[in-house]
Amino acid sequence: MSDASPQTLLITGGAGFIGANAVGWLLRRQPAVQVVVFDAMTYAAHPESLPMVSRGHEARLFVVRGDVRDATAVAACVHGNARDARGRSVPACDSIWHMAAESHVDRSILGPTDFVDTNVIGTLRLLEALRGAQDGGRQIRFVHVSTDEVYGSLSPTEPPFTEARPLAPSSPYAASKAASDLLVQGWATTYGLDAVITRCSNNYGPFQFPEKLIPLMVTRALGGAPLPVYGDGKQVRDWLHVEDHVAALWAVTGAAAGAGRVFNIGASGEQENLAVVHGILTALGKDPSSIEHVRDRPAHDRRYAMDASRLRAATGWAPQVSFADGLAATVRWYVAHEPWWRAVQGESQRAAEAMYLSPPR
Ligand SMILES: NC(=O)c1ccc[n+]([C@@H]2O[C@H](COP(=O)([O-])OP(=O)(O)OC[C@H]3O[C@@H](n4cnc5c(N)ncnc54)[C@H](O)[C@@H]3O)[C@@H](O)[C@H]2O)c1
Repeated sequence: MSDASPQTLLITGGAGFIGANAVGWLLRRQPAVQVVVFDAMTYAAHPESLPMVSRGHEARLFVVRGDVRDATAVAACVHGNARDARGRSVPACDSIWHMAAESHVDRSILGPTDFVDTNVIGTLRLLEALRGAQDGGRQIRFVHVSTDEVYGSLSPTEPPFTEARPLAPSSPYAASKAASDLLVQGWATTYGLDAVITRCSNNYGPFQFPEKLIPLMVTRALGGAPLPVYGDGKQVRDWLHVEDHVAALWAVTGAAAGAGRVFNIGASGEQENLAVVHGILTALGKDPSSIEHVRDRPAHDRRYAMDASRLRAATGWAPQVSFADGLAATVRWYVAHEPWWRAVQGESQRAAEAMYLSPPR
């Protein structure tokens, strides 16, 4: 561990997909670290995920239910003045991974306001709490967890996105993330906050809410339902296993970096959506007859690909999980954890059907 490695890490949105995987990874792999989760427990936070990933390590995990839009609650947690769900006093953090967000593009098309509220105003609340901590003599490393979607779409022949690519978000979700990235840069530059921005490609792995492509298709295939593929299914995404993302966040947290520096995270794992769906069906031993092409999503970006060479040069990080191995393991996880996804399937089906059956105006 470098000297800059955290001792107490606050993860906003830590009960969601990436958050739960991050908590499990930190508790297993970094025995000196305490983890504080600050999460509003929206539909995207499965109540079983944190208990499952923290089993045997509960003493080092503090879970605070709170909303990032609530300035008082955010400040209390950042400053170590909060109590967790078990009544314990929460330690003050030295690093933050800010992941709390409304994260599903389809939902952002149906109802964008919550995305601006949580993703933009929530980030403002965090930045202001950091400013307060700095005024009190505490410098906290802030890692703002963002997405490749802020760059918009690539043509089939363009090179992958570098950090120099101008922001050109297509969806309300991507626009809200791009706006929050710009807040972080402005606050880092003006106030000298120790903030960095990471932009990661599509994640996959266990504990992902079954509205996102891979768990949606796996769980629908397991239930014998049709598999809705947007348009021709030839949209390209650059897939990264969630544990490789977490390892990259850890590397960035300990790295020397100028205020406001941006790091792309990706594994050069480009795949067409349709190929991913075929891979899932093959892993489940099913034929492709259940695939149904549905009307494409508005403003659907055609291709994302990330150039992560800055991150690799600064930290030595490299992805460890190949897409073939990671996808097979992810499919096995959903097969083995049916009660987990069955418990939330009603909500994911309701949302998916609102999108596919009543396309937005
Ligand atoms: N999943 C991906 O492929 C991916 C890729 C790149 C970046 N990201 C970013 O990573 C972060 C986490 O993504 P995810 O896939 O784990 O999302 P997720 O939807 O699974 O989890 C989001 C979490 O944030 C919490 N949350 C939502 N609104 C909140 C609020 N107002 N206050 C406090 N907590 C709130 C939810 O309860 C949930 O636990 C997001 O910021 C997302 O933009 C995700």
